[in-house]
Amino acid sequence: MNILITGSSGLIGSEAVRYFGAQGHDVWGIDNNLRREFFGEKGDTLWNLKGLQAAFPGFRHEAIDIRDREMILTFFRDHHFDLIIHCAAQPSHDKAAEIPFIDFEVNALGTLNLLEATRLHSPTAVFIHMSTNKVYGDAPNELPLKEHEFRYDYSMPEDFNGVREDMRIDRCLHSLFGASKTAGDVLAQEYGKYFGLKTGIFRGGCLTGPSHSGVELHGFLSYLVHVTVTDKPYTIFGYKGKQVRDQIHSYDVIRAFEEFARNPKPGEVYNLGGGRENAASVLECIQIIQAVSGKKLQYTYKEANRIGDHICYISDLGKFQKDYPSWNISRSLQNIIVEMVQSEQARQQVSVS
Ligand SMILES: NC(=O)c1ccc[n+]([C@@H]2O[C@H](COP(=O)([O-])OP(=O)(O)OC[C@H]3O[C@@H](n4cnc5c(N)ncnc54)[C@H](O)[C@@H]3O)[C@@H](O)[C@H]2O)c1
Repeated sequence: MNILITGSSGLIGSEAVRYFGAQGHDVWGIDNNLRREFFGEKGDTLWNLKGLQAAFPGFRHEAIDIRDREMILTFFRDHHFDLIIHCAAQPSHDKAAEIPFIDFEVNALGTLNLLEATRLHSPTAVFIHMSTNKVYGDAPNELPLKEHEFRYDYSMPEDFNGVREDMRIDRCLHSLFGASKTAGDVLAQEYGKYFGLKTGIFRGGCLTGPSHSGVELHGFLSYLVHVTVTDKPYTIFGYKGKQVRDQIHSYDVIRAFEEFARNPKPGEVYNLGGGRENAASVLECIQIIQAVSGKKLQYTYKEANRIGDHICYISDLGKFQKDYPSWNISRSLQNIIVEMVQSEQARQQVSVS
């Protein structure tokens, strides 16, 4: 297959390059390292790009900006793709409030540029759109909760497996990031439903793995591992640190994309996270990271939660598993953290030597 991956130097994009590159497909990547502009040096993804180029000499990378409509249309006119995995994005709530125009231009207009270029030049391709659970805004906070010693959890038995795709996406607080991603999400659905393009929309929970250039504003688990291993301070914002996130390894995300690409259902929407098995609160994640790394995290607590932050978010994976029964979560939260701690320790050793 001829595969195009946008955001190919980021967490999910780079995992996709590795996964499909290892299978011998022709893989193209688009990434202009805008993450560095968003988050400074710590968000720089060039280390990841260099690693991909060294591991896969056939991997072809272009530093095209997805906002550049003419460049995108020309690129698509010159190349035909069978599979497009769209992961390029401005990924942070807090950042979006600082740069509302850029956030919308990347997340909404950039997505439209790619969808229209696909419709015009690769209309038979499968188009995977990486969306987010933030399209539900803070509506998941309306689910009744109970408080435990270290975490919040759903109190109603029907919510046990988490948030389903029928959760509403409007009349709630999103952040500008959530709003621009909602625009991209609905556009991708529309290109499936209206034009019959083979689009699949995946609303991510917490996606993680060692390839994350984690920063305080984006990449919670990666950043938490980084500060613990490097003895840096950490701040918990609100909810007593009992807010729950479900963590999925980027490898399992790509396996889900592969399943969808084999048998696409145009315009379909799926929640994709670690599910109940891989859900843990901030306090519980700190406990696991400390036990794995042997380090003690110095953290402070601020009462005010991040605006619109989910109190307890677990992705109900039932719909995807019903449509694609051979897919499962292959990496447990414990495994994910062990891998991330080892990777962070290795990075620290390289920077010391
Ligand atoms: N990581 C998570 O926890 C998470 C959760 C839910 C949804 N998502 C979504 O998954 C997708 C991928 O997230 P990620 O964690 O891999 O993000 P990431 O920031 O690691 O990767 C995104 C990449 O896109 C590139 N990029 C940004 N704007 C660009 C532009 N205009 N042109 C070309 N390249 C550009 C960046 O340089 C970066 O390398 C995003 O759509 C994000 O919203 C992520």
